[in-house]
Amino acid sequence: MKAAVLREVKTPLQIEEVALSKPGPHEVLIRTAAAGVCHSDLHFVEGSYPFPLPAVLGHESAGVVEQVGSEVRTVKPGDHVVTCLSAFCGHCEFCLGGRMSLCISPDTQRPKSAEPRLRKDAGTMNQFLNLSSFAEYMLVHEHACTAIRKDMPLDRAALIGCAVTTGVGAVIHTSNVRPGETVAVIGCGGVGLAAINGAAIVGAGRIIAIDRVGSKLNLAKHFGATDVVDASASANPVAEVLEMTKGGVHHSFEAIGLKQTAEQAFKMLRRGGTANIIGMIPVGTMIELHGAEFLGEKRIQGSLMGSNRFPIDMPRFVDFYMSGKLKLDEMISQRIKLEQVNEALDELKRGEIARSVIVFDA
Ligand SMILES: NC(=O)c1ccc[n+]([C@@H]2O[C@H](COP(=O)([O-])OP(=O)(O)OC[C@H]3O[C@@H](n4cnc5c(N)ncnc54)[C@H](O)[C@@H]3O)[C@@H](O)[C@H]2O)c1
Ligand SMILES: [Zn+2]
Ligand SMILES: [Zn+2]
Repeated sequence: MKAAVLREVKTPLQIEEVALSKPGPHEVLIRTAAAGVCHSDLHFVEGSYPFPLPAVLGHESAGVVEQVGSEVRTVKPGDHVVTCLSAFCGHCEFCLGGRMSLCISPDTQRPKSAEPRLRKDAGTMNQFLNLSSFAEYMLVHEHACTAIRKDMPLDRAALIGCAVTTGVGAVIHTSNVRPGETVAVIGCGGVGLAAINGAAIVGAGRIIAIDRVGSKLNLAKHFGATDVVDASASANPVAEVLEMTKGGVHHSFEAIGLKQTAEQAFKMLRRGGTANIIGMIPVGTMIELHGAEFLGEKRIQGSLMGSNRFPIDMPRFVDFYMSGKLKLDEMISQRIKLEQVNEALDELKRGEIARSVIVFDA
């Protein structure tokens, strides 16, 4: 099959022929229909997070089940599925404690001694984040995908695989935004726009979108932002938000991955507020906070894949799209071929488009 491979950091992905193993007892072979290009893929290309190479990148996808292993009961051939990198084992402390998105059990992967899921005639090929979606097929653990209704278009379903689950999940699960509360979202890419959309769905009172690209702020309004702050023009977005809200927001969401904006997310909280860091801040970067602020019971926390329970969440997000609540048509800026993946990664550096989605031939 054709796949986009990262061989060395800071170099373009290469389209190569990669071979797949057969499904093991708890594995599923999926024909990839569509894969979104997320900024997290770019972080790994840039080397700000280490990963064993070569690897087939991509982690935001939907497709059709081709084959299942002997023990698989949750999906069957022909099912339409959305994938999720939050593969869960179902029996560790995180899974049993109801925080399955934190599962890191090796039981969802093949043992090192076994034949790998992906391989290359000459040398190894690593699977990326349990998925490797920039490929015509994916061989995944059954707990890394979930079936969805068949009237859902698969190119839009792919977005639920990461951006929507992450952004909406951060709002509804990680920070538990209540109706009427005030929210600020810093960074209006696929993830930030999904957070804005999620805040609108749960009935947040005021939703402030912050970005440095004007077209993104216009898009943010369409996703439910009630106010926008232009971070390119504004010398001090924090002061603007504090002024606008007369003292700060209940919940802030950093969806970029920078020290400066993570600190801004904390500074724009009202007393008792919670800052959620979604962006992947480069390994080694330290965040500085003003210690005295903690006396106002301000909190700062990470949000990984929207603290999801994805087999429950994803079919609901599909229903949200089908009933017009989730704006996925507007999130796709361009549909591209696998061969154009490097151009889509370059686009993410400019920040001008929401999402590029790779569509595979049926
Ligand atoms: N925590 C998780 O589970 C998780 C999951 C998915 C993505 N992520 C991370 O979330 C972040 C966002 O991902 P994305 O795909 O939406 O990215 P994106 O590139 O599509 O969007 C980033 C947005 O931030 C804006 N921006 C950049 N610098 C800015 C600044 N200084 N001030 C204001 N706005 C600025 C850009 O204009 C762009 O609109 C990335 O760091 C990604 O790795 C985390
Ligand atoms: Zn992602
Ligand atoms: Zn587990």
